[in-house]
Parts: sequence; C-alpha cells; structure tokens
Amino acid sequence: MKNTPITRKKMIRLLNEDLAREYQAIIAYIVYSQTMKGAQYLHIAGELEKHAAQELSHALLIAKQIDYFNGTPLLAPKTVKFSEKAADNLRFDLENERTTILHYRQRIRQAEDMGEFGLSEILRRIIAEEQDHLTDLADALGIDTPKL
Ligand SMILES: [Fe+2]
Ligand SMILES: [Fe+2]
Repeated sequence: MKNTPITRKKMIRLLNEDLAREYQAIIAYIVYSQTMKGAQYLHIAGELEKHAAQELSHALLIAKQIDYFNGTPLLAPKTVKFSEKAADNLRFDLENERTTILHYRQRIRQAEDMGEFGLSEILRRIIAEEQDHLTDLADALGIDTPKL
C-alpha cells in the first residue's frame, strides 16, 4: 500500500542529512586509511582509500538531487570520531555504514511514495556500495556482517 508522500521540502531536509553523513564518511575514510599502521591493517587501509573515493561520488550524487529539488546542499559533516586504536576506527565506520544504510532504505521508500523513481534508482546504486563497505569492515574486524 502506498503511504502519503512527504513534501519536496522535507525530502531536501532529509537528503541534506544524508549528505552530512557522506561528508562524514569521506573524512573518516581519508583519515583512517592514512593513520592505520601495522601489517595486519595493510589490506583494509587500501580498501578504506577506495571507500573514500566512493563516498565522494555519493556526496556528489546526493548534492545533485538536492539541487534538482531546488534545495541548497549544506556544508557541514556529521561529527567524525577518531581513536588511536585502528580497531576502534573500524568499529566507528561499521556503525556509520549501518546507520547510513538504514537511512537510505527509508529514503528509497519515501522517494517511491513521491513517485520520484529516478531518485530511488540512484539511492539503490549508492546503498549497494554501502553494503559492500559494511562487509569489508566486518571482514576486517573478523565479525559477521550485521543483518539489517
Ligand atoms: Fe556513501
Ligand atoms: Fe559507505
């Protein structure tokens, strides 16, 4: 059953929240990839660099959608945590990816309720990459990928 669509204004506000999470992810992946030392982190540090580039492309896609709805992309990231311990930073990333996926899942439903199928298709492409990020982080931590 179709839900009542949210307004364009509300969608702009929510996409700006998503954009702030993408900015956060870009910063976190840049900093964590360059500060993660030790042979056991060599592989994942390289993966995190790739994530940084993908998060940048997500930020551009989201900003483009905000502009399409006649909104203005905001400027500030969500707060980025940092620990001296590499494993802590991997856990912060894992938690952020989890949160991001849950928000995008909701955003896809909202876009479809609005009849904005172009937006929902873009979000589906983004969410597939976030799922890969989550799996990479879970592998690096030696845990199962969280079920969402
Ligand atoms: Fe992203
Ligand atoms: Fe991600």
